[in-house]
Amino acid sequence: MSERSGPLADDPFGGRRPTSHERTTGQPWDASYHGGPAPWDTGRPQPAVVRVAAAGGFTGAVLDVGCGTGENALYLASTGLPVLGVDVADTALAIARDKATDRGIEARFEDVDALRLSRVGRRFTTVLDCGLFHTFDREEQQRYLASLAAVIERDGVLILLCFSDVAPGTGPHPVGRDELRAAFDSGGWRVVSVEPERIQTRFHGDEGAPAWLATAAPS
Ligand SMILES: C[S@@+](CC[C@H](N)C(=O)[O-])C[C@H]1O[C@@H](n2cnc3c(N)ncnc32)[C@H](O)[C@@H]1O
Repeated sequence: MSERSGPLADDPFGGRRPTSHERTTGQPWDASYHGGPAPWDTGRPQPAVVRVAAAGGFTGAVLDVGCGTGENALYLASTGLPVLGVDVADTALAIARDKATDRGIEARFEDVDALRLSRVGRRFTTVLDCGLFHTFDREEQQRYLASLAAVIERDGVLILLCFSDVAPGTGPHPVGRDELRAAFDSGGWRVVSVEPERIQTRFHGDEGAPAWLATAAPS
């Protein structure tokens, strides 16, 4: 599944076009994982993910898109679900695989671009996006939603956690509720719910940052 072999091995973007976030920062996502934990990498699953899982919101095969170092994927796998985590940051994927081995948890982690998910070659009942959607610009968001549609079951569910713009002190890339709904509507998705939530980060204290927890289904 790796997109980082052969002549592309020296390309920090693995042959893909850098995303808008990478063009803005001038760094590949992988650089976020060098020299210590990334700002979002709390070393624990997000409380919102744990709560949704406890309520039975994750079923069947699970895809965690932009899985980072795998805390959410590993938590879901520890509940007995088959989980694949994908990311473009090889360093994060290596950390996630090491955690899986150390904790004795069965989960797979692969280098796959979220904008080209059809490469995975299978569909999932539940897809988790924790902190990826909000890093994309509008054009990427539409490509991303189309990419997701290629790997979700017809009766599958997308669970998405992103920074919101409802209060000061939110994270980078805050998203408005209407903006989120509009992206889903024009991307061929049916919004089931968009609820206020919090995202834990390493720099927002115990309260975390204002967020949306959105649930959507392919329409
Ligand atoms: C804000 S971090 C969130 C990581 C993880 N979900 C978490 O909660 O800790 C966003 C993640 O998305 C990954 N990412 C960014 N663009 C991507 C793309 N086009 N395809 C796959 N992963 C991507 C980054 O490498 C990073 O790990």
